[in-house]
Amino acid sequence: MFDLFQKKQKLDPNLKAGDRHYRAFIGPPDKYDLVSAMQFNLLTKYGLREKHKLLDIGCGSLRGGRLFIIYLLENKYYGVEPEKWLVDDGIYHELGNQIIKRKKPKFLYTESFDFAAFNTHFDFALAQSIFTHASASQIHTCLENLSYVSNDNFKFLASFIEGDENYEGDEWVYPRCVTYQFEYLNDIVNTYGFVCHKLDEHHPNNHTWLLIEKKV
Ligand SMILES: C[S@@+](CC[C@H](N)C(=O)[O-])C[C@H]1O[C@@H](n2cnc3c(N)ncnc32)[C@H](O)[C@@H]1O
Repeated sequence: MFDLFQKKQKLDPNLKAGDRHYRAFIGPPDKYDLVSAMQFNLLTKYGLREKHKLLDIGCGSLRGGRLFIIYLLENKYYGVEPEKWLVDDGIYHELGNQIIKRKKPKFLYTESFDFAAFNTHFDFALAQSIFTHASASQIHTCLENLSYVSNDNFKFLASFIEGDENYEGDEWVYPRCVTYQFEYLNDIVNTYGFVCHKLDEHHPNNHTWLLIEKKV
């Protein structure tokens, strides 16, 4: 049994970010554990408790989700992801069906940021390494749709790569990353009734974290 488990967990050392493996497609495979822990630590630091409803935008292979699903109460974790195979592999390799049955996370397989399809409102949202690949029009859609499904004390943590250039294309870029200026994202955020703070938080891939809240 132990040997079998070890075999399943063994990772090809040649895998690199973007390769079609659940631990590689979403980022550097050797940092999978670290980026899991960072997401969990950050959200709990900014107030996530087990009673809250969390929307994990672009949840991938549940790198963060594997910790959030266990921590949150039943029916509180919602993941959005266009690549269903990533969620399936994350469940198979990291969580198992017993946990899914017990915690009842919900998933939506879409690239249209159609959060209203969950038919609920959220206390927290997370976009870890989503604005690092998204076009400005996708970021607009994401924030507009969040404005319809967020509770009053809503907190949204989003990472991006700060640069001198703002990505001007219309397409999702992957696995390459795009950059934005803070002021540019701040203007988008403000358009949908939110305010934005740049956080002084370490990120293992040198992203910058934003805390986005409702304007009061
Ligand atoms: C760099 S990975 C990050 C995954 C996850 N947030 C994490 O940190 O573990 C980016 C993820 O966004 C997903 N994605 C691509 N287009 C998307 C869209 N339009 N809406 C939501 N997620 C998208 C990708 O399939 C991928 O799983």
